[in-house]
Amino acid sequence: MKRKVITALLAATMVASLAVGCGNKGGDSKSDSSKSSSSDEITIGFSQVGAESDWRTANSESMKSTFSEKNGYKLIFDDAQQKQENQITAIRNFIQQDVDYIVLAPVTETGWDTVLKEAKDADIPVIIVDRMIDVSDDSLYTAWVGSNFKMEGQKACEWLNAYAEAKGMKEVNIAHIQGTIGASAQIGRTEGFDEAVEAHDNWTTLAQQSGEFTQAKGQEVMESFLKSYDDIDVVICENDNEAFGAIDAIKAAGKTCGPEGDIIVVSFDSVKAAFESMIAGDLNATFECNPLHGPRVAEIIQKLEKGEEVEKIQYVDEQVFTKDNTTKE
Ligand code: AHR
Repeated sequence: MKRKVITALLAATMVASLAVGCGNKGGDSKSDSSKSSSSDEITIGFSQVGAESDWRTANSESMKSTFSEKNGYKLIFDDAQQKQENQITAIRNFIQQDVDYIVLAPVTETGWDTVLKEAKDADIPVIIVDRMIDVSDDSLYTAWVGSNFKMEGQKACEWLNAYAEAKGMKEVNIAHIQGTIGASAQIGRTEGFDEAVEAHDNWTTLAQQSGEFTQAKGQEVMESFLKSYDDIDVVICENDNEAFGAIDAIKAAGKTCGPEGDIIVVSFDSVKAAFESMIAGDLNATFECNPLHGPRVAEIIQKLEKGEEVEKIQYVDEQVFTKDNTTKE
């Protein structure tokens, strides 16, 4: 609200310097004295989910290296430690600091209406990155860039179907370690998986539980699955780090995994350690989730700065990696 009043006043007095407008919300006016950076810098408040996985670390790095001082940005980075309440507090702080843009990597899809309305009232554009949000009013965010998580789940199941058939498996008993419940990456991948199980008479989900996208929790969940079921053929892990934990649990239980082992291990992300795990013969396949969103978000911001239209929904392209194509990659 404050910004709209300032805008009206400054427009009325025809302050010529407003026409320059770099870092001023696509030419919208903003009092320099209220800003936390020099006038030609674009200030970004980025609320990051946390540091739960290798993917997340790569994503944070991409944002930090893109929104650097050298590139003309001031980045205020906030690690929410996987807690939505921390993200809401961070967004309120960004609004108070009168940043030029808010970038949000949301932990879960729901619960954003109120705080994003506050950002809208403060006239601060919000760009959503990675996971999606579920809000009643789409104008609460300017653009979203991220993955088609359901398609990732579907691709994983198509691969599993072909692999199981090639191995001549009659029954496919699956243990499923999900991501953080309510996160788009969990919702989409689980949906793709559940639909595939429905479509295959010989596929059974033995157990399904969240591993919260962490290695430690992935290991803990797999340990408990292995205690309850001695007939697991496949473990689907909703990210690579959960798979690393699951592999440790499988080995600790005296079983083997990977292409030559007792249990097929499938995961998502395709981080560097996943390639190493495939080369070592532990992981069977990993389905890419691309974390390099910094340049994509910067492109959106640069267009907005020039007053150009941006595509509201932007999906990134992703690949499938198995032991067969892994060495080359
Ligand atoms: O939202 C993307 C997911 O979040 C990645 O698969 C996972 O590793 C991360 O924590």
